[in-house]
This record gives sequence, structure tokens and C-alpha cells, in this order.
Amino acid sequence: AIDPQFHENREQVDEHEGHAVWGPVDEPEELGIHGTHVAVDFDICLADGACLEDCPVDVFEWVDTPGHPESERKADPANETQCIDCMLCVDVCPVDAIDVDAG
Ligand code: SF4
Ligand code: F3S
Ligand code: ZN
Repeated sequence: AIDPQFHENREQVDEHEGHAVWGPVDEPEELGIHGTHVAVDFDICLADGACLEDCPVDVFEWVDTPGHPESERKADPANETQCIDCMLCVDVCPVDAIDVDAG
């Protein structure tokens, strides 16, 4: 499961489409965590898709990640600022790849 303390245990190493990327990153095998308020551990996500289907405000968008051992696309929290903290995505992800910091 994603480490809910990732912002203390990891360092921001990059930015992607306006959100943070938390390392370590070693593409294409190791991709880190994308997002801060809505965070997706790309190394755990296996492209189930439930988060994209269920998020009421369309926070997530697919990004292609060819060569990653778990899956060749990931749910990117592209619109994390739109999140309304309903926690649906956290509940439906079968591998607990998502952390939402609802404060
Ligand atoms: Fe979408 Fe709710 Fe998850 Fe926020 S907590 S990203 S609104 S499903
Ligand atoms: Fe990935 Fe979990 Fe969404 S596996 S696509 S973050 S439901
Ligand atoms: Zn991203």
C-alpha cells in the first residue's frame, strides 16, 4: 500500500502536469508517487481503473507508462485540486495505491 507519510519519507524530485512527483524515480521501472493532496503510487497502481470510473469530479486521467512492471498505464491525479475528499477512490482501489489527505 501507499505510504501515507510519503511527504515526510520521500523527496519531491520532479513535477508532472502541475503536480509533484515524489521519488525515487528510475524510469521506466520505478515511477514514484504522483500528486500531493491526491497521491497515487505509480509503482503499486496496476491500472484497475475503478478510481477513474468512480471519482465524481474526474480527478484522474490515464498516463501511459510503457515498460513498468505492474502496468503500462497509471491513474494520474491530473486534477487533484478539484478533489472533494469523498474518499471513494481510496476505498475502491484494490491495491491501496491512493492516499487522499483529507486533513
Ligand atoms: Fe475523487 Fe473523491 Fe478520490 Fe477526491 S477523494 S480524488 S473526489 S474519488
Ligand atoms: Fe490504479 Fe487503483 Fe486506480 S490500481 S487505476 S489507482 S483503482
Ligand atoms: Zn502525474
